[in-house]
Amino acid sequence: MGALKWLIFLVFLNTYSQAAAQSDIKVSVFSATSKTVILRWTSYSGAVTYKISAAPLSSPSSPVSFVMFGPNTVMGSISSLSRDIEYIFTVQALDGTQTVLSFASTQTLTAPDIMDPIKTVKPKDSRTFMVEFNPKTGATSYIIRVENTNGFFREDTVSSSPAEIRNLDPYTEYRLSIMAVNNAGRSQPSSPVAAKTVLPPPQISTSSPSNDSIIVTWPPVAHAVQYTVSIYKFDSNAKEKYNTTNTNLTFPGLDAGCLYAIQSSAWDPEGRDGEGSLYVNQTTRPATPSSVSVSVVMSGTLAGLSVSWELNKEVHGTIEYHVTSDQNLNCNSTSNSCILSPVGCGEIHTIHTTASNKAGPSQPSSPVLFITCE
Ligand SMILES: *[C@@H]1O[C@H](CO)[C@@H](O)[C@H](O)[C@H]1NC(C)=O
Ligand SMILES: *[C@@H]1O[C@H](CO)[C@@H](O)[C@H](O)[C@H]1NC(C)=O
Ligand SMILES: *[C@@H]1O[C@H](CO)[C@@H](O)[C@H](O)[C@H]1NC(C)=O
Ligand SMILES: *[C@@H]1O[C@H](CO)[C@@H](O)[C@H](O)[C@H]1NC(C)=O
Ligand SMILES: *[C@@H]1O[C@H](CO)[C@@H](O)[C@H](O)[C@H]1NC(C)=O
Repeated sequence: MGALKWLIFLVFLNTYSQAAAQSDIKVSVFSATSKTVILRWTSYSGAVTYKISAAPLSSPSSPVSFVMFGPNTVMGSISSLSRDIEYIFTVQALDGTQTVLSFASTQTLTAPDIMDPIKTVKPKDSRTFMVEFNPKTGATSYIIRVENTNGFFREDTVSSSPAEIRNLDPYTEYRLSIMAVNNAGRSQPSSPVAAKTVLPPPQISTSSPSNDSIIVTWPPVAHAVQYTVSIYKFDSNAKEKYNTTNTNLTFPGLDAGCLYAIQSSAWDPEGRDGEGSLYVNQTTRPATPSSVSVSVVMSGTLAGLSVSWELNKEVHGTIEYHVTSDQNLNCNSTSNSCILSPVGCGEIHTIHTTASNKAGPSQPSSPVLFITCE
């Protein structure tokens, strides 16, 4: 063969093998919104134009939209679609004479339409919002986008209204928008609504300095304009509330040795009550032991002083009684008496009795003077 013939043969062979190796065009959905779908296809050698058409799956022979792309494009969008509709998309690779070289189809649902703004956002506590919205037909779930100017950005998937948005920061402003989700994707976010979480609970500490009072103290809560402190006695329903702008509060006039539960919350400058603290248990200090009496008891040849007092029944928890004599003797008891021993004759004992509970000791009883066998 001459050189020219060889060349023609090789060109023919090359073209033939390319055509033989070239597989059909392929198309896939890259992304879908409620109005626009982006498609990606494989390039087809010899194509001068790629033509894309979209038709509803319900009437595939009536395309609603066409777009043409040049030979170097393998990804393009087709718009003017309607929300939440299943479409079939056909890509045709055309040559210079508009002959179809290859074609392929794919289908997808368009995303739901944009939703109404969120109806209500209520702070549930300092870190949680309760969100209510109008559901969207066709939506399989919803995405609530939470963001703020401090760079916070989060998207929570929720299934229905109302929904809780958790793990936020206390007393912080957020913007919330909602998107409907279906199998195709998500709608555009609704226009945002602003909401602010409430103040965190005061970290209260309690103590009982006397048998009839409890002091509650707490570090200031930033931005708080006042605090509400509640108290109630266990086994009674009478709850009392007090407001203060201080960071401590003393409850006077309480019952000795009784259990109280205390809680507090902080109010913000917007006049909103914040998250309530957990209840803290605090017992008042016990009453001073009353009707203290002393007598001599013998244990074998050893003499002792039996000290006894009256038990108060209306008390909470264990009370330990501590008896001391200025003659360097002491005894403890959780019942109504104990024995100081050993004692000898001719001793003068000044005896004090104190009751203690978790809150601390009572005032000591007034001293009882006891003189052993003279
Ligand atoms: C405490 O303050 C709040 C808000 O100002 C008010 O609504 C409430 O009645 C007050 N409570 C008491 C016990 O004063
Ligand atoms: C209570 O608060 C007031 C004012 O904030 C302060 O003067 C006082 O010392 C506090 N008392 C206690 C027991 O912390
Ligand atoms: C407070 O005391 C009550 C009664 O004894 C008990 O049931 C409760 O668990 C206590 N709460 C705390 C926080 O200790
Ligand atoms: C409580 O303590 C006070 C002194 O702080 C004392 O005068 C009073 O008698 C005590 N009350 C009781 C019931 O013990
Ligand atoms: C009674 O209790 C006190 C305080 O817990 C302790 O110091 C003392 O040793 C006890 N006395 C006796 C006799 O156990």
